[in-house]
Amino acid sequence: MSLISSIFSSVRVPTVKELKKNSIPEHVAIIMDGNGRWAARRKLPRFAGHKAGVEALREVVKTCVQLGIKFLTVFSFSIENWQRPKDEVNFLLNLFLESLKEELENFNKNGVRVFLVGDRKLIPHEILEAFENAEKKTANNNKLFFNIAINYGSRQEIVEAAKKIYKAAARNDINIEKLDEKTFSDYLFTKGCPDPDFLIRTSGEYRVSNFLLWQIAYCEFYFVKTLWPDFKRKNFLKAIYYYQQRNRRFGRL
Ligand code: IPE
Ligand code: IPE
Ligand code: MG
Repeated sequence: MSLISSIFSSVRVPTVKELKKNSIPEHVAIIMDGNGRWAARRKLPRFAGHKAGVEALREVVKTCVQLGIKFLTVFSFSIENWQRPKDEVNFLLNLFLESLKEELENFNKNGVRVFLVGDRKLIPHEILEAFENAEKKTANNNKLFFNIAINYGSRQEIVEAAKKIYKAAARNDINIEKLDEKTFSDYLFTKGCPDPDFLIRTSGEYRVSNFLLWQIAYCEFYFVKTLWPDFKRKNFLKAIYYYQQRNRRFGRL
């Protein structure tokens, strides 16, 4: 073990009380990666890893509510993920459907508002309907804004935004000379959300895989080796502890 990693692993998991109240990130984004490898290590089919991944997410959502995190955006299915074998894609879509139904009551109990982030045009009807139903049923909740990225790709999102802006300008709805970053952001799927303060990626991959490219301009990154199904409450609290040690300068001194 290198010195750095031994220092890292020696940090005790902080309790909620030990975290600084005034530097809880407002928006956390997560690339939940490593489900397949988690299953492979146990000689299980990849599906088992995805199922276990839902459990990890459940715990993280609860912890976000408890910490007073306002926005959570998770990467559940990328546009690129359509290239996986058909049975895995179908399993994932079904899992989203089932989990959403199962969790709806909990979302309402905990003040969680669900929102789908992604290109809705290409999401199968039944799945989209379930998400739009969940959006409606949780619309009045205001503790945690829970964005679920499905059929999401950041470059595609930016291209779509450019097209919408072009059309709005053609209709004279916006003055293109006055287009600024704020207005541009309003044409992204994450409209209305502040930029993520903290991006977590599990499974030891050091890349962003086309996730929130515009939005992470000044985000703090946290890459961990832990596979997503093993990323539980204590891992999340530790991550927040590390976030709180960062010095965010935004180009200033
Ligand atoms: C993340 O886990 C879930 C999705 C991308 C849908 P993976 O399925 O990518 O798991 P690995 O990376 O193959 O281990
Ligand atoms: C990113 O994970 C997408 C999700 C977590 C949904 P991938 O496993 O698809 O990313 P790559 O292929 O390793 O970059
Ligand atoms: Mg992966």
